[in-house]
Order: sequence, then structure tokens, then C-alpha cells
Amino acid sequence: MKIIGTGSYLPQRIMTNHDLEAIVDTSDEWIVKRTGIRERHIASKNESTSDLAYAAAKNALAMAGISPTDIDMLIVATSTPDYPIPAVAPIVASKLGCGQIAAFDINSVCSGFSVAILNAYGMLRTGLYRTVLVIGADTYSRILNWTDRTSCCIFGDGAGAAILQFDGRNNIISHKFGTDGARSNLICIPAGGAKNPIHSLDPNGPNNDLFFQMDGRSVYEFSIDVVPKTIVQLIEDAKIQPSDISAVLLHQANIRIIDAIAKYLDIPRERYLSNVDRVGNTSSASLPILLDEAVRGDKIHKGDKVMVIGFGGGLSWCGYVMEW
Ligand SMILES: CC(C)(COP(=O)(O)OP(=O)(O)OC[C@H]1O[C@@H](n2cnc3c(N)ncnc32)[C@H](O)[C@@H]1OP(=O)(O)O)[C@@H](O)C(=O)NCCC(=O)NCCS
Repeated sequence: MKIIGTGSYLPQRIMTNHDLEAIVDTSDEWIVKRTGIRERHIASKNESTSDLAYAAAKNALAMAGISPTDIDMLIVATSTPDYPIPAVAPIVASKLGCGQIAAFDINSVCSGFSVAILNAYGMLRTGLYRTVLVIGADTYSRILNWTDRTSCCIFGDGAGAAILQFDGRNNIISHKFGTDGARSNLICIPAGGAKNPIHSLDPNGPNNDLFFQMDGRSVYEFSIDVVPKTIVQLIEDAKIQPSDISAVLLHQANIRIIDAIAKYLDIPRERYLSNVDRVGNTSSASLPILLDEAVRGDKIHKGDKVMVIGFGGGLSWCGYVMEW
């Protein structure tokens, strides 16, 4: 399998930690110390997830040098689609001019892009599809409770994309995808779905349950437990040494999580790529934005073994080692 093009898009508006100080009781110092985040991008009023996804995909198509009509499957990883129904992928396919192709969403929250890549890889290997566009796109600014300082300082909006074709190589040399639904309440929007529909809520209430909620401390503990185990397993299954990994792309949740994970493993710290200081946690978009920056920044070369791991809501974790 070959990635023939990558692209990303960040909305123009930048919100710094100092801007947040005017919204909630927080400080630049607290946010930088606890998360490493300095600024994030926020979608304009006229933009939503399909627009972000479209812009990222256009950049990936330009790099690949192919036409939208060459795409025969489009997968969007997102937990903030434009609407509850329909999926956002057909809307993006239509905006791009891909024609009436196979298009669907995957909601694995922050693991979504890795999950979508594994799905695409399976589709390509079986020969069912030839050119798959995988997009990770999220507009968390629309689901955040901007009075909740424990969550609103962490996220940003954005999108990233990758175009995959099968070149005869079975080059995802190990993978691991797990979930733990027993802890699904740690990251959730409790209302607005079928369990607690919007019309069952108090019309006069604050309705905080319609917004994103997270038990930050427990999510932190989950992350620094599951991700190192996943890394060790991926290396073992690939039958390689930690030093063979050229680049590690972890979901950009928080620099403290990345530092804590890197400390316990034998992969040199500088191989863990990061942009969380500039973009914050962009959920499904986090990994493809980082990947696009790495490709365009000449940080990934042919033959490199690249490790990619997403983790978050579900709870879920999904990673793979790909020979570039
Ligand atoms: C969210 C996170 C940064 C909070 O850091 P923490 O060290 O666990 O902090 P706590 O939640 O224990 O809160 C410590 C204090 O800081 C306060 N605080 C929380 N957010 C704050 C903010 N933005 N600014 C200032 N103070 C804040 C809390 O209210 C608490 O105050 P108290 O002691 O008076 O009650 C941390 O838990 C984390 O990174 N979790 C993982 C989150 C994540 O990455 N999620 C996405 C995964 S996909």
C-alpha cells in the first residue's frame, strides 16, 4: 500500500491561551504546563467539518496529482459530522466532485484516523477498491462547553487527508485496535443521541449534557497505560527493534502524555513528532495533520518504519507500523 498524497487544513483564526484567559478562569502558564498547548485554530462561522475535510482533501489530491474522479472510496473519520444524519463523507465526496462513490464516516473519536486507515488498507488489499481517500476532520469548537475550563482549553479544529493505493506491498507490518466500552463515560456527550434525546431535556435548563465532557485525570491515566503497551506490542508483532522505528506519530492530545510515554520506551525522544503546541487536540484530524506536516517537512522517507497510534473516546486505541 502506498500513500500517494497527503494534505491538511487549519482554519485561519488562531485562538491563543491569552485569548482563552478572557473566556474562562485559566492562564497561559497553566495550559502550557499541563498540556503543552499554546494556540489552536477555530473554524469560522461559515465553516463546518465538511468544509475543513474538503480543503484538506484538495491539498492531498494536488500532491498526489490525481483527479477527484480517480477516488473510488472516501472515508471520513469524525465525531463532529455536519449533521447527526447523514454522514459527512457523501457530502465531502459531492463537494470534491468524486461522483457517486462509496463514502462513509467512522466515529472512533480520536482513534478515528488510524481506524479508517486500517479499513482502507483492508479494502485495498482485497482488491475491492483501488484508490481510497481517508480524511480525519473535526470541529470540536462546536461541541465544547466554553464555560468548562477543564475541556475548552484543550481542543482545536482542523482536518487532514491521505490518499491510498495498493502497490502490491503488504506494508502495514503490525497493527492493534482495541476498545473498552466499560469506560465509555470518560469521554462523552451524554445527551442528543437515542439514549437521551434532545427533546427529553429541560428546555429551560443549562443542558450541559449536550456538550463534550471528559474526565481528564482518568483519560490521562488510561493514555499513559494503554499507549506504551500498544507500542511494545506493535514492535513485537512487527519483529523489529525500537531503534528501527524512524518516526512515531501519536495522537496529539497533550505533550505531557507524549513525554510520559516516551520516557518508558527505547525509541529516541526526537522521533516522536509533535505539533500540539500550535494546533491543540484536533481529535480525528490530529494524526493526518501531523502526517502531512511530516511528509511536507521531509521527515519521512521511503523504507522508513513509521508508527501511528490514535487513542481516546470509546475508550479506544488503534495503531499500526507502516513501512513507508
Ligand atoms: C485535562 C488535564 C490537562 C488536567 O490536568 P490535571 O493535572 O489532571 O488537573 P486536574 O483535572 O486534576 O485539575 C487540577 C486543578 O486545575 C484546575 N483546572 C482544570 N482546568 C484548568 C484550566 N484550564 N485552567 C486553570 N485551572 C484548571 C482544576 O479545576 C483543578 O483545580 P482544583 O484543584 O482547585 O479542583 C489532564 O488531566 C489531561 O491532560 N488529561 C488528558 C486529557 C486528554 O488529553 N484528553 C483527550 C484524550 S483523546
